[in-house]
Amino acid sequence: MIQWKLCSGLLGLLIFLTGCSQEKSPPTDSSKATSENETSKDAAMNTGNEFQLAIQSEPYGATADGQEINQFLLSNDKGVSVSIINYGAIVTAVYVPDREGKTENITLGFDTLAEYEKKGPYFGAICGRYANRIADGKFTLDGKEYQLAQNNPPSHLHGGEQGFDKKVWAAESFSKKDEVGVRLSLVSPDGEEGYPGKLTLNVVYTLNNDNEFKIDYTATSDQATPINVTNHCYWNLAGEGTILDQELVLNCDQYLPVSDVAIPTGKLAAVKETPMDFTSAHKIGERIAQVEGGYDHCWVVNPSEKQPAFTARVKDPDSGRVMEIFTTEPGIQFYTGNFLDGTEASGGYPKNGGLCLEAQHFPNSPNQPEFPNTILKPGEVYEQTTVHKFSVE
Ligand code: BGC
Repeated sequence: MIQWKLCSGLLGLLIFLTGCSQEKSPPTDSSKATSENETSKDAAMNTGNEFQLAIQSEPYGATADGQEINQFLLSNDKGVSVSIINYGAIVTAVYVPDREGKTENITLGFDTLAEYEKKGPYFGAICGRYANRIADGKFTLDGKEYQLAQNNPPSHLHGGEQGFDKKVWAAESFSKKDEVGVRLSLVSPDGEEGYPGKLTLNVVYTLNNDNEFKIDYTATSDQATPINVTNHCYWNLAGEGTILDQELVLNCDQYLPVSDVAIPTGKLAAVKETPMDFTSAHKIGERIAQVEGGYDHCWVVNPSEKQPAFTARVKDPDSGRVMEIFTTEPGIQFYTGNFLDGTEASGGYPKNGGLCLEAQHFPNSPNQPEFPNTILKPGEVYEQTTVHKFSVE
């Protein structure tokens, strides 16, 4: 773990790909490595450069109650790498080259598992059972009222006190000809955090040689239950400083105005001629002062025949790094790290030190019948695909 954490820049990546590869950790109960089709090394041979499509895993540490956690390193032949742990299904690092080929970690994270176990800003985690807010933590389903934790008073946020970001997931790595990945799964028992039904959730993280980092979600439940899952990576394409000079495009003509406790009013408002209009590229800091508290809203993804649909594009003009997001979800929460404050609890990152683009359904949907449905019924399968594509300009 420490070896991986210390890796930075090109040299670091080379150490990842050579040093780490000699020490494959043995499979454990909750986390094991398998190979489909061929081994990762075979899959990436003859690429003609020093990078290879590969997947490695090694012990990351143990939780406070003694459960062993593994870290998986997915890397491709373009020098992109993604690290994932099976605690919270957290993306702990994403290294991406700039236009000079220099790689930096462009996600925010903590250095140790102990820090991830504390209450935090949900760095890199999968949030659920219901990501984002539910007003007063209440909803009614089939005539029965449910009360969830109001852990972001007066609202329920990101699944409650012990959301999916605080769970140990089962994990299995895989390696195919053109991609490597990790399949994580979780069973959330009936009544956990107050939610009805036993929910089974699978999250598959995949990296390919086209610099696409994909997240596929599927879930089933034995009772009707609300579900809204998302990945909560904080991105900073410069790898340091704030995101205020980075440019954003959102393929969204509408957004959801919110109350003073960040609950959507139920209306869909046009972004045109407002600071919420990112239909063409704007620096994030350009109009942020006009938005009370900074950006922390859900935008409505423009309908598209092509799925997953183009949704967002972030560019760091200095490094040239670009990230595009494509999703099957109807909404995207754009949050500018307004509550980061440089303290230990914020991993030392300053206000606006990272931005989240969380593909998801609309906040508080269980209480808003007009919003796209978030109730998963027995016999149905919840599905989501979200792709992050990295490039340079
Ligand atoms: C929410 C913010 C919240 C943050 C917690 C985001 O998804 O939109 O309001 O403070 O998560 O880290």
